[in-house]
Amino acid sequence: MKKVVMLLPLAAFLATGAAYAEGGKELTDKYRCTSCHKLDKKTIGPSYQDIAKKYAKDADAPAQMAERIKKGSRGVWGGAPMPAQSSASDEDIKAMVDYVMSLKK
Ligand code: HEC
Repeated sequence: MKKVVMLLPLAAFLATGAAYAEGGKELTDKYRCTSCHKLDKKTIGPSYQDIAKKYAKDADAPAQMAERIKKGSRGVWGGAPMPAQSSASDEDIKAMVDYVMSLKK
């Protein structure tokens, strides 16, 4: 019985959490973020894993990241600038930020 009680919340987490992060991942394809960001390698922009790692302990980071995606960003990572991703809605940006932050270890 104890096992069932422990497994239930895990199943619920996997069902909702993973599906949500998956939505964010698909959105990064839809908005072509993937042309500048790869999962685990720096290309034109920093990798999603590096971003998640840099901000893993920063509670303000998701809001700041969303702002930078929306308005563009330069100088934070020391390489190329990111143009404003003005076609993405706030809701989609939030889902993509959640996806990126879900990659921290
Ligand atoms: C034309 C290339 C390009 C595209 C397209 C692009 N990015 Fe970026 N992105 C960059 C670069 C370059 C940086 C680093 C900017 C800097 O140093 O300030 C960056 C930085 C970021 C960061 C880190 C911001 C921070 O707070 O440090 C996030 C998160 C991010 N991008 C997500 C996205 C998402 C999501 C999309 C798609 C909607 C996207 N990017 C599209 C090039 C791009």
